[in-house]
Amino acid sequence: MRIGVPKETMPGERRVALVPEIVSRLTGSGFDVLVEKGAGVEASFLDAAFSEAGASLVDGVLGQAEGIVKVQKPTAEETGRLRQGDVLIGFLQPLTDREGIDRLTAAGVVAFAMESIPRITRAQPMDALSSQATVSGYKGALLAADRLPRFFPMLTTAAGTVPPAKVLVLGAGVAGLQAIATARRLGAVVSGFDVRPVVREQVESLGATFLDLCIRAEETAGGYATELTPEQQAQQQAALEQRLPDFDVVITTAAIPGRPAPKLIPAAAVRAMRPGSVIVDLAADTGGNCELTKPGEETVEGGVSIVGLTNLPSTMPTHASQLYARNVAALLTHLAPEGELKLDFSDEITAGACVTRKEESA
Ligand code: NAI
Repeated sequence: MRIGVPKETMPGERRVALVPEIVSRLTGSGFDVLVEKGAGVEASFLDAAFSEAGASLVDGVLGQAEGIVKVQKPTAEETGRLRQGDVLIGFLQPLTDREGIDRLTAAGVVAFAMESIPRITRAQPMDALSSQATVSGYKGALLAADRLPRFFPMLTTAAGTVPPAKVLVLGAGVAGLQAIATARRLGAVVSGFDVRPVVREQVESLGATFLDLCIRAEETAGGYATELTPEQQAQQQAALEQRLPDFDVVITTAAIPGRPAPKLIPAAAVRAMRPGSVIVDLAADTGGNCELTKPGEETVEGGVSIVGLTNLPSTMPTHASQLYARNVAALLTHLAPEGELKLDFSDEITAGACVTRKEESA
């Protein structure tokens, strides 16, 4: 099977879907790999490294390979260059971009969305939501430490003692747990909250305190939270408004797959925080957990900094690409063992990840 790696075209996207280390593993197991010139430059992977790994460097790969691997979903123009029967792998946003999926279906592309890979043990090496959320959580804690006009750790100096920063992490999934671990390593005193009560133990095992707001949501079979009722949401906002002034930093990561981010922090709660406090809203990509977040921007409201930067994995493109490439390679070798495409739609991973399969081919 010939695999093509295009240069990402979404503004601000610096990641690349395969890295040289993975290219060499794939070429060693029967795949041919074409890489668009310059595809990895922004992630610090130069063309020469791809060549050395066994890839052919070309001017364009769409329509030139039967398997296209991407980070972001293709534009309409890019989809137009794909051929019927081509396999496409990437973050295709199947729950929120119906138009894009319909376009791929109409083009006869066999598209696999990284978001749709079932979260079962066997599929863990392919779990790109987790690998990229790990990057976001880490970067979120670093952004908070950087924007806070105070130290994270407690310091005892000749000029006196500095108390540690108090950090609250809302949403303790993959990103939240990484943010907790990173803030702890930087010396902050950390609390965590999630509507799934099972995460209390995970929060505590990282040395953080579980903040009990007495609000619980059901957990789906896939391990995700269900959306709160409007009453629960109002109760959560009121509870947070009371508790937030105790913290210097709030890092929010709450998400419901396919839905806008739940609004946890109303404007009034931001106004109740001390000047100099920082909110890092890791849910900014889906609208934000804070009512005042402006996705893609950093703003200051009454002395409180609100960081709404989006696509954080792209700001650490080397490791984000490396982890993503391992996820993609795991899926590729699942779909094409020994380099030959063998789609088995009775398999839970193949059927779950494929988002353009027509019913009749089931
Ligand atoms: P996510 O990115 O969809 O959501 C982040 C967190 O926000 C979740 O923990 C969710 O419970 C929480 N949340 C939702 N609404 C909230 C609210 N109103 N207030 C506070 N928190 C709220 O979730 P992520 O990080 O993708 O992980 C979700 C689950 O999937 C976890 O249980 C994780 O352990 C599980 N998982 C399972 C894997 C596997 O078995 N292969 C791999 C990775 C994750």
